[in-house]
Amino acid sequence: MNVAIDGPAGAGKSTIAKAVAEAMNYIYVDTGAMYRAIGVFFLINSVDIDDEEACKSVLDRIMVSIRYRQGLQEVLLNGVNVSPIIRTEEVSHAASLTSSYASVREKLLSLQQKLAEENDVVMDGRDIGTVVLPNAEVKIYLTASVEVRAMRRFKEYEAKGLKPDIEQLKEEIRERDFRDMNREHAPLKQAEDAVLVDSSDLTIAEVTECILDIIREKL
Ligand code: DC
Repeated sequence: MNVAIDGPAGAGKSTIAKAVAEAMNYIYVDTGAMYRAIGVFFLINSVDIDDEEACKSVLDRIMVSIRYRQGLQEVLLNGVNVSPIIRTEEVSHAASLTSSYASVREKLLSLQQKLAEENDVVMDGRDIGTVVLPNAEVKIYLTASVEVRAMRRFKEYEAKGLKPDIEQLKEEIRERDFRDMNREHAPLKQAEDAVLVDSSDLTIAEVTECILDIIREKL
């Protein structure tokens, strides 16, 4: 069983995908973490991330793999677990920019497809239902309004004792949506056969249950 969950940043994909994978005893595959690991390589090695050719020329020095420890995915860059350092703003930016390069996407495609071939997976990303797993048994397009996504992010910052500007958060989300949806290669879009789930007015438990119902119908 392959479950593809695509959608814009901040829609709750990873939270929901993790919960669904746990309930079904499937493997959760976070493809964004793989793009982030490649971003880390570029940053550590001072590769100009605006220069597609420069990025492409070092790709054969990069090996990304994943492993699971106590049910949690760890992403390895050339054998080193980089999971603790992939969630910074700098890495988000590098991943967002370089994931638009065809050569970078190609590098990760076969790894993602192999994982889905060998395991029951819940895989989340931007192009899973459209490009990576076009034959996935279940495809979900998970979204939420910009306002709701900005508010979720605001609360995450608040919990860390920070007070971000809500209007700026909205602007960042709009910019990221635009970049993800308008890039040339594998842009974010709803697959024709994906079920649209808008989580704006739903709890995590409600969204999870809704997706579990869709999976159980297919079993
Ligand atoms: O989901 P995330 O924020 O961790 O993803 C990091 C970046 O990688 C994001 O800018 C979009 C990109 N990405 C992608 O292009 N395709 C995927 N399947 C997953 C992520």
